[in-house]
Amino acid sequence: MADLRAAIAGTGFIGAVHARSARLAGARLVGVAASSPENARAAADTLGAEKPYDSAEELVRDPDVDVVHICTPNHLHLPLAEAALAAGKHVVCEKPLALDAAGAQRLVDAAADSGLQAGVPFVYRYYPTVREARERVTGGQTGAVRLIHGAYLQDWLLRPDDGNWRVDEQLGGASRAFADIGSHWCDLAEFVTGHRITRLCARTKTALTERVKTESHAAFSAVNGSGTARAVGTEDAAIVLFETDGGAVGSTVISQISAGRKNRLWLEVDGAEEAVQFCQEEPEELWVGRREHVTLIKRDPEHLSAAAQRYAVLPPGHPQGYADSFDAFVAEVYEAVVTGTPADGMPQFADGLRAARLTDAVLRSAREDRWIDVSIKSAEVAG
Ligand SMILES: NC(=O)c1ccc[n+]([C@@H]2O[C@H](COP(=O)([O-])OP(=O)(O)OC[C@H]3O[C@@H](n4cnc5c(N)ncnc54)[C@H](O)[C@@H]3O)[C@@H](O)[C@H]2O)c1
Repeated sequence: MADLRAAIAGTGFIGAVHARSARLAGARLVGVAASSPENARAAADTLGAEKPYDSAEELVRDPDVDVVHICTPNHLHLPLAEAALAAGKHVVCEKPLALDAAGAQRLVDAAADSGLQAGVPFVYRYYPTVREARERVTGGQTGAVRLIHGAYLQDWLLRPDDGNWRVDEQLGGASRAFADIGSHWCDLAEFVTGHRITRLCARTKTALTERVKTESHAAFSAVNGSGTARAVGTEDAAIVLFETDGGAVGSTVISQISAGRKNRLWLEVDGAEEAVQFCQEEPEELWVGRREHVTLIKRDPEHLSAAAQRYAVLPPGHPQGYADSFDAFVAEVYEAVVTGTPADGMPQFADGLRAARLTDAVLRSAREDRWIDVSIKSAEVAG
């Protein structure tokens, strides 16, 4: 992997996480681009990149780059990923892949035509306890899945003076809470169960119809300072009811305004024999419920299934977390670049398109006050 040359466009919260994972996977971090050449210079120093680029457009076309990581605000994902693929680069593009399903479909098609690797960081898939849950469903221990439910709750946009580019639909897209974190929840629910959501009905809530307009503070920061007031067109929360192709029903609550909740992605799958429950804030154990007893399965490599063991990189009692999951994802994309074959479960552009279709449907359902069909289409399994 030492010869793989990675470059990162966007050097905020997640750009720094990508940089660490790229380095740990053995790639050379040849350069970074930020919102200005000055910011790129500063970020190159901080992240230890070999050079700053004047712009993300220059970065994606550099012949000395093999893999481009796109970690910018959402509106730039489509043009930058398209340009990177056209220039022959493998791409890791942050979610949401595009601002709508039509844009995401363009990227799925471009990736398929190129034959290049194209990953989307739905990294919650990489917790060993998530793999264990998936094994218990596919291995039949849970029995037929009947209910899929949970929530993804945060509080960093709780107050009117909490602002971020995500609030602005020109930069973040028409959906905020659902596209940003609901997409992760649905990806995980479908990944663990193997079911696909076929129909959904949603309500969205914009509790804060006005917020300060601030452009340049970090994501997930609680103190965002002052600015001018602006009207908000994106949702703070969404509640979604759904049915699946496997005969289950489910629901999820997605919110960026739930006080005290920081990153509570919580998923429960209730089968005919047992239920499994995963919580991102306590990812070292999987709750397994049976009528006779409840078991907590610890992330102990010796006692996990082979599928989960593969991602358990530390001994028991030495907690693994979000960054480790990110490392595993990036390492797997790089492995796919080398071998030409993505590992089972590696999230790809087709999964980004799936999330974009669900997002469009959530907004449409809320707007039109009706159920929307989201059954999988052949194009989604192609790319
Ligand atoms: N997969 C995950 O778990 C996960 C987690 C967090 C964020 N994200 C995604 O990552 C993306 C970035 O989110 P973030 O939280 O890091 O935001 P952020 O605001 O912390 O960082 C965005 C960065 O983009 C840079 N930028 C802005 N315009 C640019 C341009 N024209 N060219 C190059 N860089 C530019 C900014 O300088 C900033 O460094 C979003 O799409 C978000 O949805 C994914």
